[in-house]
Amino acid sequence: MSFTIVEPARFRLNRSQLFVPGIRPELLPKAAKGAADIINIDLEDSVPVAEKPKARANVVKALSEVDFGDKTVSVRINACDTHFMYRDLVDLIEGGGERLDLVMLPKIGTPADIYAVDMLVTQIEAAVGRKKKLGFEIIIESALGMANVEAIAAASPRNESLHFGPADYAASIKARTVGIGGFNADYAMLADAQPDGSRPLHFGDPWHFALSKIAVAARARGLRAVDGPYGNFSDPEGFKAQARRSVSLGYEGKWAIHPSQVALANEMFSPTEAEVGQAKRILDAMEQARKDGLGAVTLDGKLIDLASIRQAQVMVQASAIIAGRGA
Ligand code: COA
Ligand code: MG
Repeated sequence: MSFTIVEPARFRLNRSQLFVPGIRPELLPKAAKGAADIINIDLEDSVPVAEKPKARANVVKALSEVDFGDKTVSVRINACDTHFMYRDLVDLIEGGGERLDLVMLPKIGTPADIYAVDMLVTQIEAAVGRKKKLGFEIIIESALGMANVEAIAAASPRNESLHFGPADYAASIKARTVGIGGFNADYAMLADAQPDGSRPLHFGDPWHFALSKIAVAARARGLRAVDGPYGNFSDPEGFKAQARRSVSLGYEGKWAIHPSQVALANEMFSPTEAEVGQAKRILDAMEQARKDGLGAVTLDGKLIDLASIRQAQVMVQASAIIAGRGA
C-alpha cells in the first residue's frame, strides 16, 4: 500500500437507486416499500421549471411523513448554475429533519462547485443543529466535470460516491446519440477483409472511457462508483448486460428509472453464490498457504496470491451485508 492511507466513505449498500420525480410524491410510499437500496427523490430534470417550488414542498413533507424504513434517502437538487439550488438546500435541511441522508449534486464541473455547496450545507446544518452530517452523491455528466473528476472526488469529506450521467455527458461532448446510456451501433470498427472475404463489424462500448475514468477517480478517494440510468426500461436484458459490464469495471450499483429495474440492479450488483463460494475457497487456500509459509499457490490450476485475498474478502464482505439486508 501507499504511505497515503485512503479512508473509505461511510459504507452503504448501493446496488440500486430508484428515482422518483418530486412532482409525483404519491409514488414515494411505493418506492419505500420496494427493494431499492437508495431512494433518490428528484428536484432536477424530471421537474419542470414552473413546478420547482411545488416539488420542493412535496419533498420536505415526504421526508417527515413517509416511512422510508432502513433505506438510504437522497434528494437530487438543482445544479449550481440555477437559482433553484440554494433554496433547495435551505428548505430541505431546515424543514426535512434528520431523515435525509444524502444530497445528489448534478452537473458538477469543478471542485469549487463542491466547496460552495459544502459551505452552504455546513452553515444550514449548524443553524438548525442537525446531528447527522449530510453526504454528497456527485454526478459527472459534462466535459468539464470529466476533465476535473479527480479533483472533484477529493473536494469534500462529505463525498460518498461518483455517478456517471450518460445523457447529459453525451450532450456536453456533442456525441451523436439521443439514447440514455445504451448501445450505439456507430461505435464500431470494420475489420479488414477476412480470408473468406467477409468484413465483420466489431462493436465497442462508447461509455468505456467515461466509466473507467470515474471508477478510478472514485476508488482513489475511497468513494463508491455508481453507473447512471439505462433509459429503455422495457429492455431488461440490455440493462443487465450494461450492469454486468459496469460490475467488471468496479461499479457498485446502477440507477433505476423505473421500479422494474430495481430487482435487476440488485441481482447484477450482488455477488452470486458461486462467486462467494469460490472466494471462500480462495481464502481457505491462502490461509493454508500462510501456514505453509507460502505467498503464491495454485488453486484449480490457476495462480492465487496475496492480492487474491483482498479480492475475495471484498466479495465475502459484500455478500454478508446483502444477506443481512434480506434481499
Ligand atoms: N417509483 C415508484 N413507483 C413507480 C415509479 C417510480 N419512479 N414509476 C412508476 N411507478 C409505479 C406506478 O405508479 C405503477 O404502479 P401501480 O402498478 O401501483 O399503478 C407501476 O410502478 C408501473 O408504472 P408504469 O405505468 O410502468 O410507469 P409510469 O408510466 O407511471 O412512469 C416513468 C414511467 C419512467 C415516467 C416513471 O417511472 C418515472 O418517472 N421514473 C423516474 C424518472 C426520473 O426521476 N428521472 C430522473 C433521473 S434520470
Ligand atoms: Mg443529468
